[in-house]
Amino acid sequence: MVTGKFITLEGVEGVGKTTNLNFIAEYLEKAGKSVVITREPGGTEIAEKIRALLLDHNEEKLCNEAELLLMFAARAQHVENVIKPALEKGSWVLCDRFTDATYAYQGGGRDFNMNDIKWIENFVQKGLAPDKTILLDLSVEVGLQRAASRSEPDRFESEKQAFFEKVRGVYLDRAKVEPQRFHIVDASKTVEQVQQNIASFLGQLLINE
Ligand code: TMP
Repeated sequence: MVTGKFITLEGVEGVGKTTNLNFIAEYLEKAGKSVVITREPGGTEIAEKIRALLLDHNEEKLCNEAELLLMFAARAQHVENVIKPALEKGSWVLCDRFTDATYAYQGGGRDFNMNDIKWIENFVQKGLAPDKTILLDLSVEVGLQRAASRSEPDRFESEKQAFFEKVRGVYLDRAKVEPQRFHIVDASKTVEQVQQNIASFLGQLLINE
């Protein structure tokens, strides 16, 4: 069976995911690939409703356990209804965040046990994992300054710097453990330099296909 590739883009707030996601999509489309661009939490009608529950400020506090389970509930819908069907059709799926974000934000930021996350990951994804993950890495201080110049902070963006330091730490640890999957990009560089780096990574990926 022909299947496409599953590429995820990760990083702490303010690293430039949106700009680079569009760049990657254009690059792959120019190379003749059919590309499905999507995001987490979200990507389906139901998962986008769950996203709103997760990101909006509500009067009732969302407890950390509910946050973790809602992330995976949204992911279950997304994997089943968008990601798997697209890959089976041979499309490349380009996803703005995936399960590495759960390890980083809920495992690192909220301090959940990584083995508990692993159990839910296996239950929901049944082995589905990204082929490649591009991690845009930047100091938390600079990232938060960049993010602050955007819209009203959502529930995650309202967290303190120490939370994001833990998030960044987990991303970097995971990249160290799986160097074949992760490609780390220094997001403190100019947009041109970052995109040159991403382009050469993608070029190599297409050659080795
Ligand atoms: P974003 O679309 O701006 O990246 O916002 C999504 C937010 O959700 C971001 O702050 C990271 C957070 N998040 C988690 O905490 N866990 C997850 O598993 C995912 C996918 C996102």
